[in-house]
Amino acid sequence: KDSLRDLAAHRGLFYGCAMKSGQITEDPAFTAAVVADCSAIVPEYELKRVITEPSPGRFDFSGADRLSRFAQEHNMLMRGHTLVWHLANPAWLEAALTEAPSMKTHMFDYIDTAMRRYGNRVPVWDVVNEAVAPEEGDFLGRRIGSPWFKAFGDSYIDDAFHQARAAAPDAVLAYNDYGVEMSGSWYGARRRAMLLLLEGLLARNVPIDMVGIQGHLIAFDKAFDEDVFAGFLADIAGMGLKITITEFDITDRKGPADPATRDAEVAALGRRFLDVALDCKALVGVLSWGLSDRYFWVPEDPEQQPPKGQTLRPLPLDENLAKKPLWDAIAGAL
Ligand code: XIL
Repeated sequence: KDSLRDLAAHRGLFYGCAMKSGQITEDPAFTAAVVADCSAIVPEYELKRVITEPSPGRFDFSGADRLSRFAQEHNMLMRGHTLVWHLANPAWLEAALTEAPSMKTHMFDYIDTAMRRYGNRVPVWDVVNEAVAPEEGDFLGRRIGSPWFKAFGDSYIDDAFHQARAAAPDAVLAYNDYGVEMSGSWYGARRRAMLLLLEGLLARNVPIDMVGIQGHLIAFDKAFDEDVFAGFLADIAGMGLKITITEFDITDRKGPADPATRDAEVAALGRRFLDVALDCKALVGVLSWGLSDRYFWVPEDPEQQPPKGQTLRPLPLDENLAKKPLWDAIAGAL
């Protein structure tokens, strides 16, 4: 059978997943599954600032370096995730942003360091991640609780993209965010806030090339809406921006205990979502946030628990690395 990477390649796209460098040494079977299906990877956490700059000016890119070498060896694209985010910042940085809020060097120097380190080995970067949160109350829908917003005001987003372009003129610069696929007012407000942000960036000639749609979906729950999602993608494509699905997964905690029923619903939802995404000419690739149910990021959260005695089944391969209906759904959509 074809691999997801080959099926994607036939359409001029990539397929990839988030992973951790430890998996390369500790889990060869999982790593082989990544190599088989993926033409792209993204570090799940090892390119976040809490890891890469544990104390001021002391950098640790060892995990991201291992992933970068792995990507090179297997001819994979590596995405840089992420330069400026309200989460995963070291405590010293949070303190510094509060105490000396005019110090934009705290943002600029890091963008330079990370992007120059990898050059064309990391050709795509999430420059700013998750900068909208309309529920926080700002009329533009910006995430005003972000330490970056609190320190620098709204201009930090423009500044981050300008700095990124200067640091790596050839890199593809992305804005990445979640919560845009469903109907309902919370999602609608998020879509409006994101489009407003993107329109503003483009109107001010801020260098941005791509939008990352995370694509964390929930089966048996919120109504995924094909028309709403297609319209949103068309709006972004109409701005001349490329699109990547960056963190695709489908949490099945709301489903019944029977795994077959949950797998079928997850696969059906995945297919509907990807059919819309793949229909958009601006789409360049899809990454899932993990590849196998063996490693899934949300189970720490008590609210995300599956029915008692069950594990979540949100990813294309099961815990034993066997292909699930979701894998077939992705292959079918590709
Ligand atoms: C998550 C990782 O999967 C976890 O390992 C980490 O502890 C926290 O972050 N949106 C994002 C990702 O942009 O960076 C998040 O990844 C998941 C939600």
